[in-house]
Amino acid sequence: MTILSNGHLWKHTEFIENKNFSFNKNKILSSLSKKEIDDAFSSISKWDGYSPTPLLELNKLADELNLNSIFYKDESKRFDLKSFKALGGAYAVEKVSKGNKDMIVATATAGNHGRSVAWGARRLGLKCKIFISEYVTDARGKAMADLGADVIKVKGNYENSLIECIKQSTLNNWQIVQDVAWKDYMLVPKYTMAGYTVMMREIVNQINQNKISHIILQAGVGGMAGAMVAGIARYLGNVPNTIVVEPDSAACVLESIRTGKIEKIDIKKESLMGGMSCGEVSLVPWEILKNSVKYCISLPDDDIAKTMKLLGNAVFGNDKIIAGENSAPGVISLIASCEDGKIKEKIQLNKDSNVLLIGCEGDTDKEMYQKLINQ
Ligand SMILES: Cc1ncc(COP(=O)(O)O)c(C=O)c1O
Repeated sequence: MTILSNGHLWKHTEFIENKNFSFNKNKILSSLSKKEIDDAFSSISKWDGYSPTPLLELNKLADELNLNSIFYKDESKRFDLKSFKALGGAYAVEKVSKGNKDMIVATATAGNHGRSVAWGARRLGLKCKIFISEYVTDARGKAMADLGADVIKVKGNYENSLIECIKQSTLNNWQIVQDVAWKDYMLVPKYTMAGYTVMMREIVNQINQNKISHIILQAGVGGMAGAMVAGIARYLGNVPNTIVVEPDSAACVLESIRTGKIEKIDIKKESLMGGMSCGEVSLVPWEILKNSVKYCISLPDDDIAKTMKLLGNAVFGNDKIIAGENSAPGVISLIASCEDGKIKEKIQLNKDSNVLLIGCEGDTDKEMYQKLINQ
């Protein structure tokens, strides 16, 4: 065959199985409830411009890997924001503001969450303050300023931008809309996760009679992965093999699953997968993920640009897909798992498998996207 038989080795760094795996629907839905999930769909599906994002098939790749099918949820088409994040921050803004037009919302962000908060604030006519670290590209900052937000650049990394956001918000009585939970700050991150579950509701309507056997979930702080697991508990009759994928430089879910408790990673080098370059799993998702994720895999950045290019050139399926840096790891981890006989057998990837991948974003940073696909 043609796609994979050119001698290229698709790399993964680590693969582990969760020794504490025990999928318990009721326990999962006690962290993110059926009502919270249903409320989110009921609100978001009424927003102007809402329509489900496409569920594409990577049929050529499925043939090559001898799998029954590979579904790719294409979030590059999510509203005008080109990322699943549009579902979370904007929904949280709606929930916290409760119709109050004078509220000022604030958040710290690596990019896409802030864009969602800024967009959600503009929808409701609210003022918005966004804190970004010096590492967030100017293009990402501008995208939020274009949505009417005041964008404040903070020296240092994401954590420094969050500290500054909390400090100024406390002083000025701004409402923080953060996607990361900490002790005493759980409700708003829960709203963002409830927003993300809309993806699973759409997928269930889109897969017809197919049963998803495997789902690969990218993780930064774990919000998206946790939300999708809650979506499985809420909407699916079966329990697919759930695999979390992370950059090897920031595999905070993998390390926490390994030891069974939250482990903090000291990130030495920021990954190209920027939205996933997070050092610590957030509390709400952790409660869901710790027993419900079956496997974790980590990847280097090596194959990201190549994969984005192959997706863009319709090499894996019939559609040309605009896939950002954080969309590629699902595909890479699937190919790497199939190429490693032991992993392939362990996770039972075979001709009956229907694998779901989440294409979480499109070219949310156009400059970076062009740079990578032209490499
Ligand atoms: C753009 C983007 N940001 C962030 C994330 C990570 O989400 P979370 O921090 O909720 O795990 C992803 C995907 O996992 C992503 O695609």
